[in-house]
Amino acid sequence: MGMGSIEGTQVENLWVFVLASKYGAFTRSVDKYSLWCFIMTCFVWLVLSLIYWAYPGGPAWGKYRFRKSFFNYLNISTAKQQQQHGPIPGGPRGFPVIGSMNLMCGLAHHQIAAAADKFNAKRLLAFSLGETRVIATCNPDVAKEILNSSVFADRPVKESAYGLMFNRAIGFAPYGVYWRTLRRIAATHLFCPKQIKASESQRFEIARQLVAMLGASPTRDIRVREALKHASLNNMMCSVFGRKYRLDTSNPEVNELRELVDQGYELLGALNWSDHLPWIADLDLQQIRFRCSKLLPKVNRFVSRIIAEHRAQPGQLNRDFVDVLLSLRGPDKLSEPDMIAVLWEMIFRGTDTVAVLMEWILARIVVHGEVQSRVHEELDKVVGRSRAVTEGDTAMLVYLGAVVKEVLRLHPPGPLLSWSRLAITDTTVDGYHVPVGTTALVDMWAIMRDPDVWSDPLAFKPAERFMMGATSAASGDQFEAKGPGFFSDLRLAPFGSGRRTCPGKTLGLNTVIFWIASLLHEFEWLPVNQRTRSSTVVDLSEVLRLSCEMANALTVRIRARRTPS
Ligand code: HEM
Repeated sequence: MGMGSIEGTQVENLWVFVLASKYGAFTRSVDKYSLWCFIMTCFVWLVLSLIYWAYPGGPAWGKYRFRKSFFNYLNISTAKQQQQHGPIPGGPRGFPVIGSMNLMCGLAHHQIAAAADKFNAKRLLAFSLGETRVIATCNPDVAKEILNSSVFADRPVKESAYGLMFNRAIGFAPYGVYWRTLRRIAATHLFCPKQIKASESQRFEIARQLVAMLGASPTRDIRVREALKHASLNNMMCSVFGRKYRLDTSNPEVNELRELVDQGYELLGALNWSDHLPWIADLDLQQIRFRCSKLLPKVNRFVSRIIAEHRAQPGQLNRDFVDVLLSLRGPDKLSEPDMIAVLWEMIFRGTDTVAVLMEWILARIVVHGEVQSRVHEELDKVVGRSRAVTEGDTAMLVYLGAVVKEVLRLHPPGPLLSWSRLAITDTTVDGYHVPVGTTALVDMWAIMRDPDVWSDPLAFKPAERFMMGATSAASGDQFEAKGPGFFSDLRLAPFGSGRRTCPGKTLGLNTVIFWIASLLHEFEWLPVNQRTRSSTVVDLSEVLRLSCEMANALTVRIRARRTPS
């Protein structure tokens, strides 16, 4: 992250470290002059670090402002330009040199929201992550300004993303022709309504297996997380690689891919200090570069094998995404490494987001018994107990759609809009000058819990918030469960917005709503201790990895509602 902000900033840091490495030689030759130079350099570095740190927003902003003031002093035309752009936002100074790295440890979305509150800077907060200048907003209007602007259509560079080839896939590809080509290919062949419809039977089959698997252990406490992740991975493996596996049997290929995805998740989700303190990057203190270099050949081997099998036996009827990529011709044709990156990203991105969101939904369903009863009532009216739910039913499940939106509001899998944005030119945000290379974060979690934006924001009220004007399916009025309710003013934008908005939104929501409808239609979901049906029986605390997951996996009891068909 934040390479754009390097701009020769390492120079004075490098002096110190180069000189430090020569320190042994200094002391041996007892060259007093060199020693004196070394001490003076350290002193200048220390003084400059303290000066930079003294500016609001911390060291990275301080360095930028100090240099600007210096150049303004020398060059009047730059000063005029600066005045036209307006002031620079304020924020916490953090610590000298490292700035506010502490904000990004643990639950970063909570900490950024608290800092914005403290500095009265909910609209725009500036802080430093080492050498990286960051702006963050907890306001929907400013979020819209950032996310919908072409200036913020790029992603900051993350060493682990490069190490795992994600810079050649949609999520981290630099904004430009290559990224646009990938989005078009994915939109046409993976995320278009026709393709989503074509994969309906596969989702139905996985839902059936999920129900059978969970139903086999009704008297035990069930940890649903593993089953959900397994189902989600099988689903993506089928769409992307054309591979079909049973949920209830262990398969070495699935296990291998699960392990690769888990390791990739950990590496990409980790806060890598080297991204923000480039002068320690060579040391690879957290071993992220080393671990990426170990993981990458395994991913290459795995995906290359599948591509080779597809080359040998191209799919005729049920074309999966590998077949699609292999059939591309002309300027769209991808090299094998690029194909591997794109396929690996789809598996990677499509697996955990869906499983994480489903676990949150089930947790809320267990906590709010009255919500569960109302969903059951709706399912009985729309589907009845004589048959299983189909995807065609979901458009009529108005209340369930509202429940999913309410869960996305309170527990967005990507609370800081997953992967941040990078300013590709100097720009103005909310009247403040934001220089090129600044990283922008949108704290969507804070926006979706803001009492100025949502009344009684912590209360779980699906119907009151998302069914105003829509009549229940039971009365025959259609309400698109996946459509309305995601607001263009960004009060509720868990899938992002603008050019880099999530391309998998419709596919992801279709899968989540259908599978949740199936699980709720088949079972009653109960807390582990049924006698104490209160919110305390489910721990809703969070942990932020790449996605924001439940800190303690949901454990439940289930009771069959109908005989599975
Ligand atoms: C259902 C849960 C999902 C949630 C909550 C979610 C959320 C997000 C968010 C917040 C972003 C960043 C958007 C921005 O910067 O404005 C994103 C990007 C992305 N998502 Fe999703 N996503 C989900 C499912 C999926 C699925 C199923 C796929 C693919 C199979 C997918 C593929 C992607 C890709 C490729 C990007 C990068 C887009 C780009 O940079 O151009 N997502 N997602």
